[in-house]
Amino acid sequence: MRQRNVKNKEEIITSSKYFVNNPENYIGKWNTYFQNNNPIYIEIGMGKGQFIIENAKRYPSINFIGIEKYDSILALALKKINIELPNLVMIRLDAFNIDSIFKEEIDTIYLNFSDPWPKKRHAKRRLTSPEFLKKYDLIFKNKNHIVMKTDNKDLFSYSIKTLNNHGYYINNITFDLEKEKDSLNIMTEYEEKFTKLNNPIYKIDVIKGKK
Ligand SMILES: C[S@@+](CC[C@H](N)C(=O)[O-])C[C@H]1O[C@@H](n2cnc3c(N)ncnc32)[C@H](O)[C@@H]1O
Repeated sequence: MRQRNVKNKEEIITSSKYFVNNPENYIGKWNTYFQNNNPIYIEIGMGKGQFIIENAKRYPSINFIGIEKYDSILALALKKINIELPNLVMIRLDAFNIDSIFKEEIDTIYLNFSDPWPKKRHAKRRLTSPEFLKKYDLIFKNKNHIVMKTDNKDLFSYSIKTLNNHGYYINNITFDLEKEKDSLNIMTEYEEKFTKLNNPIYKIDVIKGKK
């Protein structure tokens, strides 16, 4: 995502009560942060946050954690939170280090319009590469559950293969989400953009039992 520099980003980030500055302190005990045992859903690469904020509004009995690598984008997401949401936090993290923040406590991972990294030599950076899937195994609680949306056909077929090779089975798959008229669908910023361009949106929902 190309993003203009947000001038006072550090101030926006550190003054927001939704930002957790020391997420590594909560590894294995995020339920103590939220002070309940509700399920925890995370979005990796949340961008400007529309999807995760709307989820937190709609589903108060689920705890949501938005993860974003870049400060300017994170600042815009934090600024967007306009009502009290005790079930939402946001953290600054490169997902490569996700297993230093969570341990056997996550119920669902959302991957929405992840960067496709089309060059073969960058394949390891795709958020559904075998390297990332191994890390996710360490953070899920009872059962692995990943929900992915993208408009990128190559990333989608790559992900179907890597997920399948890693032992996931398909709960649900869609090749044109807009046509499904799913009233429960929550759009991301990218999804709105690509839907307006009439690009088909692909979605897959996969599950894997614990070893
Ligand atoms: C194409 S944007 C999609 C944003 C949002 N999910 C949406 O659908 O509108 C991808 C986002 O993922 C973030 N991102 C990419 N790689 C990441 C990583 N390794 N860890 C955390 N965030 C990452 C980018 O900074 C960017 O905000």
